[in-house]
Amino acid sequence: MSEPSTKPGHDDEGHWVALCDASALRDGGEAVPFDVMYLGQSCRAFAVRHGGRLQAYLNRCTHVPMELDWQPNQVFDPTGQWLLCATHGALYRPDTGACAGGPCRGGLVKIQVGEHQGVVHWRTQYKLKPMQDV
Ligand code: FES
Repeated sequence: MSEPSTKPGHDDEGHWVALCDASALRDGGEAVPFDVMYLGQSCRAFAVRHGGRLQAYLNRCTHVPMELDWQPNQVFDPTGQWLLCATHGALYRPDTGACAGGPCRGGLVKIQVGEHQGVVHWRTQYKLKPMQDV
């Protein structure tokens, strides 16, 4: 399981934002969605667990900027091994977000995520802010 490199809170390069209880993310299971501002635009994002590790990405396919999931929070393919865009079948690696097949053009935008005291947190960046900070 990944851990934040710093405790949740503020630091020079961003801060950790609490998302959900760690038990809400089962390996290869449903994603937990959250809203962010990315480059000044509101955007959906999601966190998942895969291979025991937490991962989070913008929920924006690189083929056409659409959300990956048709069924809410279903971002894995039926095998649970790939992140799947339901619209035209782009596949992404869950560990890096890199395009692994289909019509994607590059990889998903990765968001730092970690677990601290049983709570999942994601980390803000210069381009990536929580909705409430805007
Ligand atoms: S919009 Fe995702 S594969 Fe086309």
